Amino acid sequence: MLCSHREVTHIKLNYTRMCFLVNCLKRFKSSQEWLSRQKADPYVEKAKIYNYRCRSAFKLLEMNERTNILRPGLAVIDLGACPGSWTQVAVQKTNADGADPSKPKGTVLSIDKLQIFPIQGATILNNMDFSTIEAHDKVVEVLNGQQVDLVLSDMAPSATGVRELDKDRIIGLCYMAIRFAALVTKREGNLLFKVWDGKEVPILEMDLARFYKNIKILKPMASRTESSEKFILAKGFKGIQRPLQNGRWG
Ligand SMILES: C[S@@+](CC[C@H](N)C(=O)[O-])C[C@H]1O[C@@H](n2cnc3c(N)ncnc32)[C@H](O)[C@@H]1O
Repeated sequence: MLCSHREVTHIKLNYTRMCFLVNCLKRFKSSQEWLSRQKADPYVEKAKIYNYRCRSAFKLLEMNERTNILRPGLAVIDLGACPGSWTQVAVQKTNADGADPSKPKGTVLSIDKLQIFPIQGATILNNMDFSTIEAHDKVVEVLNGQQVDLVLSDMAPSATGVRELDKDRIIGLCYMAIRFAALVTKREGNLLFKVWDGKEVPILEMDLARFYKNIKILKPMASRTESSEKFILAKGFKGIQRPLQNGRWG
């Protein structure tokens, strides 16, 4: 039996409404799950006690405990730093706020597409996509041409919900972070960044081995077991040839 145009429109409208309701229910369920996970998470409570902006601080603290990549006097760039807990840890560990006058004072520069509220001891570049030329020029200006000891990246692209697509996007972000790090890091400097586990990770490791002496995969306890998140620490930057102003390569 054929439906009239009015009936078809009516069916389409009902279908759209039903999809909308199903999506609302899914979102409600996942936000309920998020809430109960937050309540049961000891790191959320600990972050409040130690005044960190989020639980991620403990991932960096733990990785630093094992690798000692953050030390007083070092210059660090934190990519995708909002809300700022990694920056807080980096400032403390490098003494960028000069809290300990007996130790060398470090430098911390933090960048995010979003707005980060000020953190004493850190220079913050808000509302900035790190991968743009504008961001690169700003970093060079802020650091006065100086190169850094460590680049951190806890960046994640905004999730589309399509798993494979999201994985591709984070891998894209990783390669952009590697490129960025190559332009701003000193020889022997380090890079620590987040990935989501998958078949691309070994390829990423192989590519990194061209630029760094030592590659290590880390999964801190504070990183949820059900999450495929991992961190890659690339140590000992070998350096790249940079174009000099007179057109030669250095
Ligand atoms: C998981 S959060 C980082 C949390 C942070 N490490 C902390 O401890 O507070 C990831 C951040 O990456 C940022 N981000 C993603 N892509 C970016 C880009 N291209 N440029 C700058 N920031 C980016 C997002 O805006 C988001 O704030």
